[in-house]
Amino acid sequence: MARVLSPRGRRARLQAVAQLIKPNASIILDLGSGIGAVIPHLTERATAAEILAVDQSVYLLHKQKTQRMTQRSNRVISHIPELPFRAKSFDAVVAIQFLHEIFCFLGPSALSSTFDKIYDLLGEGGCLVVLDHQNPGPARIKAQLPEELHLKLVYFTKHFQPRTITFEELGDGWVRMSMRDFYDFITKIFSLGTPLEDEEMNEEHTPFLRARFVQMLQKAGFHITHNSGFTPIELHLKRFKVRVEADSPLPKRHLLVRGEKIS
Ligand SMILES: C[S@@+](CC[C@H](N)C(=O)[O-])C[C@H]1O[C@@H](n2cnc3c(N)ncnc32)[C@H](O)[C@@H]1O
Repeated sequence: MARVLSPRGRRARLQAVAQLIKPNASIILDLGSGIGAVIPHLTERATAAEILAVDQSVYLLHKQKTQRMTQRSNRVISHIPELPFRAKSFDAVVAIQFLHEIFCFLGPSALSSTFDKIYDLLGEGGCLVVLDHQNPGPARIKAQLPEELHLKLVYFTKHFQPRTITFEELGDGWVRMSMRDFYDFITKIFSLGTPLEDEEMNEEHTPFLRARFVQMLQKAGFHITHNSGFTPIELHLKRFKVRVEADSPLPKRHLLVRGEKIS
């Protein structure tokens, strides 16, 4: 499961998601809610809304109960895409750093079933807001890594399971590698040597090219009303003291997309 760099960066992401919800929403579904970090932002934005948080993890939902629950929120344990709700029962659905896990662990057909299911659960005019990692593309960049990080990159190439990660040594700490491999590496460093490493080494952060992701939502019937990148990767570069040389500006780390159900 992904962790985030700083509470401030995380708060900005959660607020951006909440801002895309209509303030008069009365019932909102938080899919793959984890500990429910977005719940306070949703209740602040849609002041009369009830929030239903769904996750497969009993442990995370339990933490949610002790930390985040308000009188207007509730929790349901479910393995998505199975969702035990009636059609057209929600005004909004949010999915934050969750859908890449559906894609990586359950595959493309589970992802498209999830989109279909969400569409079915939304009433007319309802919306889905997604914030997730994005694939920055295959362009090659040069990065200069401090020695400790260089060792971690070697370790990462040996342990990351979803695909082969390669890099060229250029000397003086510089490496050349694809932007996609670099983004997966730099956003998973936090997990190396921690209990989260095993899970992180078995899933990619970057399966979604934004344009392709938007097409999948359109195919499920959604009308796209917001489509942007979010979170500069430079926050990671600064934190890990990495210098990067690239031919064009580095894409944002996340995608932020809103789709509406309009008949
Ligand atoms: C990276 S965490 C994100 C949590 C939260 N949305 C956030 O941004 O803090 C992904 C969450 O999705 C949940 N999850 C992954 N696959 C799931 C599935 N098939 N059904 C239900 N929950 C799932 C995990 O348990 C985890 O809590």
